[in-house]
Amino acid sequence: MAALTRVSPYQSHKLSLVNQRLPELSSSLVKNTSSFVSFPKKNKKFCRFSVLAMADLNTSTVLVTGAGGRTGSIVYKKLKERSETYTARGLVRTEESKQKVGGADDVYIGDIRNIESLVPAIQGIDALVILTSAVPKMKPGYDPTKGGRPEFYFEDGANPEQVDWIGQKNQIDAAKAAGVKRIVLVGSMGGTNPNHPLNSLGNGNILIWKRKAEQYLADSGIPYTIIRAGGLQDKEGGIRELLVGKDDELLETETKTVARTDVAEVCIQALQYEEAKFKAFDLASKPEGTGTPTKDFKALFAQISTRF
Ligand SMILES: NC(=O)c1ccc[n+]([C@@H]2O[C@H](COP(=O)([O-])OP(=O)(O)OC[C@H]3O[C@@H](n4cnc5c(N)ncnc54)[C@H](OP(=O)(O)O)[C@@H]3O)[C@@H](O)[C@H]2O)c1
Repeated sequence: MAALTRVSPYQSHKLSLVNQRLPELSSSLVKNTSSFVSFPKKNKKFCRFSVLAMADLNTSTVLVTGAGGRTGSIVYKKLKERSETYTARGLVRTEESKQKVGGADDVYIGDIRNIESLVPAIQGIDALVILTSAVPKMKPGYDPTKGGRPEFYFEDGANPEQVDWIGQKNQIDAAKAAGVKRIVLVGSMGGTNPNHPLNSLGNGNILIWKRKAEQYLADSGIPYTIIRAGGLQDKEGGIRELLVGKDDELLETETKTVARTDVAEVCIQALQYEEAKFKAFDLASKPEGTGTPTKDFKALFAQISTRF
């Protein structure tokens, strides 16, 4: 028996927005036909729609992993700020990281090296943004006044093979099993050169393992966007012209850095545009004050033709 549910003018307005998007949303509507609500014709506050479907359609549930990290935490925050469109979830490794991002119930604790620990966070999401990475640590004893270069290492069990390959693969496998419809993965420029200096950091071959995970995602069949960022900077976002490229060509130019805030924005924008689907690209930006700050992300993604 269909339930009769009163809908407020605000909800009614939201429903009319849903109505306008009906063709693209119809397949989602079908799944909730049992909870239709009835709306007498004379009363404009009522209409015939599925309240459950409306909730599904209005927000898409997005999990960002590495949510305690420097870029991941920005993505999580931006998703929370856009609660009209997204239901945010975060995955962090520790209770400490959870508290750092506010400690809300939508922050799950898990370790990407253990696929079972990811299931609660991934179950029921529409999209996944992968922002986890092995993080090299500086060996103690480095004295900059003596010149030379610092040495780095990866903690036991947390090297790039374990985190950037197995850990990312686990996330992709868990997402596939849960029917996730979209994955955005942040990687790094430099992956076309096996001799890139970053690979010798802690003997981790980090870019090689990252690239292997990117390939795994591209072969997974899940609609994806792979963002290979240039050098990340903790600077204000939204004030630079973003540049997309391929095959590390941007590394040969003067413009090979990008603000973490801009990377975070590109991750979220990639969720909305068809033009970003099945694409892999390098990302950098012009220096502040040159060029025109990027606002049209659809046009930005449309420039990209590379699938890997
Ligand atoms: N640094 C650069 O200049 C640069 C350039 C290009 C691309 N990138 C790439 O851009 C991405 C974002 O970089 P970022 O500097 O913003 O990242 P970040 O701050 O280093 O964050 C990495 C996150 O991964 C999490 N993590 C590591 N191992 C994990 C595990 N086993 N299980 C769950 N989570 C785990 C960390 O959790 P904890 O918080 O618990 O440690 C951390 O939150 C990375 O893929 C990075 O490699 C960086």
